[in-house]
Amino acid sequence: MKTKLGKTIAALALLLGLTAVIFLVASSQAQRRGRTPGDWLPEDWRRPGDRRDEDRRRDDDGRQDRRRDEDGRRDEDRRARGADVAHAETLWRDIKDYPTWPVPKGLEGWQRGESPHGRYLRYYYNYAAKENLNKNLAVIVKENYSARDRGALRSVTVMQKRKGYDPENKDWFYVQYDPDGEVMSDRRGRKIAGAVGEETDRGCISCHERARGNDYLFMND
Ligand code: HEC
Repeated sequence: MKTKLGKTIAALALLLGLTAVIFLVASSQAQRRGRTPGDWLPEDWRRPGDRRDEDRRRDDDGRQDRRRDEDGRRDEDRRARGADVAHAETLWRDIKDYPTWPVPKGLEGWQRGESPHGRYLRYYYNYAAKENLNKNLAVIVKENYSARDRGALRSVTVMQKRKGYDPENKDWFYVQYDPDGEVMSDRRGRKIAGAVGEETDRGCISCHERARGNDYLFMND
């Protein structure tokens, strides 16, 4: 009995000693590799604050990827905006003789407008639009005059139907020109051309999407 107990104790002591040796060797190796103690411990043993270099690297990589993604998206946005402005400029060349175009029925002569458009308006549309307001390449032009002076043209707002351009919003291309046909800019200096107001609560789409009939047009409401 006595010897059995002795043997057990000896075995336990040996096991403890071995564990201690393994512990020391492992920890000294970890130190040599320049890590903080505890780094080599299994995941769930580490304190929440302990982060492995690898984790950090992975996080950094993730951040860089995200930044690259965002940059890519920004580049895309810039390109899209550039393309929108270019389109608006060509569009003006095609439509600048709009005063010779047909006038929508019931909207002849001076019309009263609402904010944000002028107090007085004049409408025109091209032959495609006359045939069908939602026909591809239909163009609707609305001149916006100031309230004080009907002679003072403030801006020309245009909607052009472009099949495939913005399917979520009925494919309208919006642009606002000054009386000389220059694409106008908003208060933040962004050109007013394209799917304007798509993601904000201001701008053309945010308001025109409320038009009756879900065609983004008010003139037929
Ligand atoms: C806050 C609402 C609102 C915003 C923003 C808005 N519009 Fe309009 N738009 C109207 C209303 C209302 C009419 C009908 C005429 C009127 O009352 O002025 C209209 C009419 C028009 C028309 C004639 C076709 C139609 O729908 O009847 C065009 C073209 C037009 N807007 C272009 C634009 C462009 C381009 C922008 C952005 C630069 C814009 N609109 C921003 C409310 C808005």
